[in-house]
Amino acid sequence: MRKKIIAANWKMNKTINESIHLVEETLSLLPADHPRDAVVILCPPFISLAKVSEALQNNKKIFSGAQNCHWENFGAYTGEISAAMIKSAGAGYVILGHSERRQYFNETNEQLAQKANTVLSEGLIPIFCCGEPLNIRESNTHFELLQEQITKGLFHLMEDEFRHVIIAYEPVWAIGTGKVASEEQAQEMHEFIRHLIRKQYGEEVAGLTPIIYGGSMKPSNARGLLSQPDVDGGLIGGASLEAADFVEIIKAV
Ligand code: 13P
Repeated sequence: MRKKIIAANWKMNKTINESIHLVEETLSLLPADHPRDAVVILCPPFISLAKVSEALQNNKKIFSGAQNCHWENFGAYTGEISAAMIKSAGAGYVILGHSERRQYFNETNEQLAQKANTVLSEGLIPIFCCGEPLNIRESNTHFELLQEQITKGLFHLMEDEFRHVIIAYEPVWAIGTGKVASEEQAQEMHEFIRHLIRKQYGEEVAGLTPIIYGGSMKPSNARGLLSQPDVDGGLIGGASLEAADFVEIIKAV
């Protein structure tokens, strides 16, 4: 059985104090027996990462993650943060290739391939994002784009490395727009991604790789999306900034 994963991407929101407050609120709203089957990951801004990790230290099912990292472990890269530093802050996960980083910071598939190497070599788990902008979907070339993003970003990995990867499908047109992918659209793309993994690494690895959905997921649509056979969880932006909404999504697993 592959894992169910609910990850919060806080993006550039919350000061350090606000971050701690949000963690405490989220923990207080989670009933003692939750999350039953889900691994929950909170990805705050870098500046809050160590504090958030500390606040989650005694928790066995809620972990912290970073939103990005550099592809080198140290060096003259002013303003950047390495996977080793993220690990030292107590985090276990790193979001890679979010569409906002591809769009605003020109991250390429080649850089992401290097970042995946660094993250894995530190023993961290990459949450690798892929997804098509609206014009690509409208021109019906979204399968090709996804194939390119995943092939170039991840398929250089050895099978034992790839086994640690989580993939997040985030259609760009659904991010922060309130326009969620339909359950059928999400399932279709997740099934396609799993098919690509099967061709590259075989049935067993394809069956074990968590593929999570991101893009306007909220309490009202989470249950439907999460009930799709190839949707193994969610990567949640806006709704993760409200503890009550985020906890409702966790409960929908
Ligand atoms: P929203 O949930 O705000 O649409 O953001 C999704 C996202 O980008 C998560 O990484």
